[in-house]
Amino acid sequence: MLNAARNLRKRGVLGVNERNAQMIMKYNPRHLYPRVDNKVLTKELALTAGMAVPELYGLIGHQSELRNLSKIIGERDSFVIKPAHGSGGDGIIVVTGRSARKRECFRLASGVLVMESELQYHTSNVVGGQYSLGGNPDTALVEYCVEFDPIFAEVSYQGVPDIRVIVYRGYPVMAMVRLPTRMSGGKANLHQGAVGAGIDLGTGRTLGGVLDNAVVDEHPDTGALIAGLQIPGWNFILESAARGLEVTGLGYLGVDIVIDRHHGPLILEMNARPGLNIQIANCMGLSGRIARVDKIQGDAAAPDARAKFARREFSATSSLS
Ligand SMILES: Nc1ncnc2c1ncn2[C@@H]1O[C@H](COP(=O)(O)OP(=O)(O)O)[C@@H](O)[C@H]1O
Ligand SMILES: [Mg+2]
Repeated sequence: MLNAARNLRKRGVLGVNERNAQMIMKYNPRHLYPRVDNKVLTKELALTAGMAVPELYGLIGHQSELRNLSKIIGERDSFVIKPAHGSGGDGIIVVTGRSARKRECFRLASGVLVMESELQYHTSNVVGGQYSLGGNPDTALVEYCVEFDPIFAEVSYQGVPDIRVIVYRGYPVMAMVRLPTRMSGGKANLHQGAVGAGIDLGTGRTLGGVLDNAVVDEHPDTGALIAGLQIPGWNFILESAARGLEVTGLGYLGVDIVIDRHHGPLILEMNARPGLNIQIANCMGLSGRIARVDKIQGDAAAPDARAKFARREFSATSSLS
């Protein structure tokens, strides 16, 4: 691991201080943060921009609205409950079905069965601010549960993988796919124990994986190889990510996209302080790519042109990558 870290430094790895000072302070004005820190607002903005998102079934913004949960769920078999101001996968419940014998019992991604009263209790904690920054009162979203594209079946365990694209001044500069594991409980957050796999921006094919900062070749639960997967609709994904600049106004952004088997790529969320271990998953630092974008100063270019630039300049085989 130490060797890996040393090698990465040589490869222009961006550190936290540098990221904060040079990207976040410079390109992410504070007043725009709510656009990405509040998942309800992000959804609205993305929809207004014509981007697809998981359908919102309903909101619970106050304890007195808890009784609406039953109505929002209705006869649905699957849905997700999450805090509007959550992060790192905390407070998210992924309901994938109901018990065949007892419809009032819901099955979670982990396979565990829970009663509706337990979902209510959880939602009450979300609204109470248990998962929001600073413990502030929050809103719970109930939304469509994404059914992942079959391409990921071999490399995910009980959950939906998401694709993270780092977008700098509107240009995609690095990407990875995060694959849920038994440990991550149906969520694709690295801190919950998901595997991250780098993606070749040029082709949309996965490179090697990383689990807890260590390099892995196989998915820990399924044993399937992580490298060499072709992400479907790659051009569209890069173009959607690039549009994150227009949607949020943020110059340094992590755009998270999931691929639904019925609806195709959907914007799941966006992040103004995306983590840096994407560099480990790609065995590549961000600094060189950031400098390359700064040099062309093409902020005026349209999203599709910016995505095209990224495919050309930052492919795994490109000398400048
Ligand atoms: N609508 C959904 N359908 C299926 N899985 C979801 C859904 N929303 C979230 N998840 C799972 O939970 C993870 C975290 O969700 P996300 O909305 O990105 O919140 P956070 O800000 O906590 O990361 C996702 O990466 C995904 O694996
Ligand atoms: Mg996320």
